[in-house]
Amino acid sequence: MKGSIGIPDLRPQLVLIAFCLFTSSFGSKIGETCGSDNKCDAGLSCQTCPANGNTRPRCSRIQPLHPTSKVNGLPFNRYSWLTTHNSFALAGARSATGSVILAPMNQEDTVAEQLKNGVRGFMLDMYDFLNDVWLCHSAQGTCYNFTAFQPAINVLKDMRSFLDANPSEIITIFIEDYVKSSQGLTNLFKASGLSKYMFPVSRMPKNGGDWPTVDDMVQKNQRLVVFTSKSAKEASEGIAYQWTYVVENQYGDEGMKAGSCPSRAESPAMNTKSRSLVLVNYFHSAPNRSQACADNSAPLLGMMETCHDAADKRWPNFIAVDYYQRSDGGGAPEAVDEANGHLTCGCGNIAYCKANATFGTCDVPPISPPPPASVTPSDNQQSQNNNHANDAYIGRTTKLMQTVVVILATITLLAWL
Ligand SMILES: *[C@@H]1O[C@H](CO)[C@@H](O)[C@H](O)[C@H]1NC(C)=O
Ligand SMILES: *[C@@H]1O[C@H](CO)[C@@H](O)[C@H](O)[C@H]1NC(C)=O
Ligand SMILES: *[C@@H]1O[C@H](CO)[C@@H](O)[C@H](O)[C@H]1NC(C)=O
Repeated sequence: MKGSIGIPDLRPQLVLIAFCLFTSSFGSKIGETCGSDNKCDAGLSCQTCPANGNTRPRCSRIQPLHPTSKVNGLPFNRYSWLTTHNSFALAGARSATGSVILAPMNQEDTVAEQLKNGVRGFMLDMYDFLNDVWLCHSAQGTCYNFTAFQPAINVLKDMRSFLDANPSEIITIFIEDYVKSSQGLTNLFKASGLSKYMFPVSRMPKNGGDWPTVDDMVQKNQRLVVFTSKSAKEASEGIAYQWTYVVENQYGDEGMKAGSCPSRAESPAMNTKSRSLVLVNYFHSAPNRSQACADNSAPLLGMMETCHDAADKRWPNFIAVDYYQRSDGGGAPEAVDEANGHLTCGCGNIAYCKANATFGTCDVPPISPPPPASVTPSDNQQSQNNNHANDAYIGRTTKLMQTVVVILATITLLAWL
C-alpha cells in the first residue's frame, strides 16, 4: 500500500479525507444531544439530569465566560466569580494519610482542574493535623485520618502555580478556619509561596465602598483575596475576617427554600450595604451528586434573583455550589454569566454586553440562548420531547452525512489504487 501511494495523484482524496476527519472532530454545541462518544465542544460536558427528568444526554456548560472578558477595569466587587463549596472534598479521593475517607464529598475534580474551568472562589476547611494544616471535612473542629483529605499546602501550591502562570487572574479563598496553632495560616501561606500575592486587609473597603479595580489588583500583583471565619485572625495574622467584608446567605438545606434568602448566622443581614461583597450559597446540607444538576440549574437562578432582592438589589460576587460541573444545561456557569451581565454592563447575561457601550445597552443575539433547565419535568415534557426529537434528528443527519462522505472518500481512494 505504502509504496503505491506515490503513483497516482492522491491530493484531492487526501484533502477530502482530511476534511472528513476535521468535521468529525468537531464536538456538539451547548444543548445538543451528545452520543455515546460523549463529544462536546471545549468547556462543555455530556451529561443527563435524571433528578429533574432530563434523561437526554446533552452538552452542558462547565465553564463561565471570563468575568472581565467584556468590561474590564471595574472594581473587584463589580464582578461575579464561580465558587466551589468544599473545593478540596474530591469525590473518590483517598486520604493522604492512607486512610479511606468517611466524610461528605462535594466536587469531582481537583482545585487545579477547577482553576482551568474558571472557578475563582474556593471554600477550604482548614485544621491543625499531624503537625501541619490539613484540608479536612470533619465535625467539632477535630480532624481524623478518615476525614482528612490532604495537607493544605498541596492545594495552595497549585494556586500559586496558577497565579504565576496567569498574571492577570485573581483568586479568592474562604477559609473555614479551625487552625489554632500560632501563626498557623501565616506559615502555611509563606510556605506555599502565596504570601506575595495576598491582597492586604488595609486596602479592603470597610464601609461599603468600592474595592480597588481588578486592573489595580493585577498591576500591584495583589491577586489573592483571603478571608477567614475567625475574627481574631485579622488582628493576629492580618487575615481578613470574612463577615466584615462579605454578606452571605444561609447555606445548606435551610438556604434552599425558594423565595427566601436569609443571611447565615455569622453574616450581617443581606441588605447590609457596609459590606461590599455578596456571596450566595446554594447547596444541600448533605452533598448529593445526582441532585446537584437539578439544584445548579433553574432553582439556582431563582435563588440568585431572590438574594439579589434581599441584598438590596445587589447581584452576587460569589456563587458557591457543590458539584459545579453538574447541571441541566447552563448550570452555575450560566448563573455566573448572568450575574456578570448585570454587574458589568447592565444586561441579563455577560454574553449580551456590547463593546464600549453605555451601561444597559445590550446585544441579545438572534440565536436563542442556551435552553433553560426544566423546573418540573411535567411542565416541560412536551417542549423537551420536541427539542429532543429535533436535536436527535440534527445529530443523526450530521452523523449520516459524515459517514457517507467517509465511504465516498474510501471508494474513490480504493478506485485510484
Ligand atoms: C493516621 O495517619 C498517619 C499518617 O499516615 C499515621 O501515622 C497514623 O498512625 C494514623 N493514625 C491512626 C489512628 O490510624
Ligand atoms: C440524591 O438525589 C437523588 C436525586 O434527586 C435522590 O433520588 C436521592 O434519594 C438522593 N440521595 C440522598 C441520600 O438524599
Ligand atoms: C473599545 O474601546 C477601546 C479603548 O478605547 C478600543 O481600543 C477598542 O477598539 C474599542 N472597541 C470597539 C469594538 O469599539
